[in-house]
Amino acid sequence: MTRRRVCVLVSGRGSNLQALLDAAADHAYPAEIALVLSNVPGVYALERAEKAGVPALSLPHRDFPSREAFDAAVDAILTNAGIDIVCLAGFMRLLSPAFAAKWAGRLINVHPALLPAFKGLHTHRRALEAGVKLHGCTVHLVTPELDDGPILVQAAVPVLPGDDEDTLAARVLEQEHRIYPLALRLLAEGRVRMDGERVVVDAPGPTGALVNPAP
Ligand code: GRF
Repeated sequence: MTRRRVCVLVSGRGSNLQALLDAAADHAYPAEIALVLSNVPGVYALERAEKAGVPALSLPHRDFPSREAFDAAVDAILTNAGIDIVCLAGFMRLLSPAFAAKWAGRLINVHPALLPAFKGLHTHRRALEAGVKLHGCTVHLVTPELDDGPILVQAAVPVLPGDDEDTLAARVLEQEHRIYPLALRLLAEGRVRMDGERVVVDAPGPTGALVNPAP
């Protein structure tokens, strides 16, 4: 089996990157993390990459005159490195439509909410304010619209009485670390196909419903 070559784009602590590195440490996993690229120098995610023996680059976006120029530089690096799939993992920067179009179907993101609810920032605070009883996370294909692409995998968690942003974020993050490697595996194995605007995944479904509060 040829493993798909993956670049992870990061901007911060990189816990989702770590989940992907851990999954890819198993040679039976269908993707290898071939490159980590950060738009912010000195972030912990770069250290995680180095510890895992993965080439890590920082490319400060401030060094470029425009979003398009930065994205073109990223695209050139990905192409030279023979990258097949790009994973955004806490990458705090919008990508230009040209970049999203070029990598369409091969560019994925993890978002800390059950899309299409709570696009954008501060998802946990907004979920608490809305009083939802189930919250969660989503891995989706990236399109030029923010947090709007076809959904690959989702995980739901209960919102519990007494939750604050931090406790809820921690419960969701644990699931991000489960579903991101799962979604990358499904994509790398070619088990993802488009049906119009939606993704159909060739994988078994869950066996029960999550109800909160419990019946
Ligand atoms: C995660 O919650 C991710 O969903 C969001 O930003 C956070 C990044 O965390 N896009 P980390 O850098 O992967 O630890």
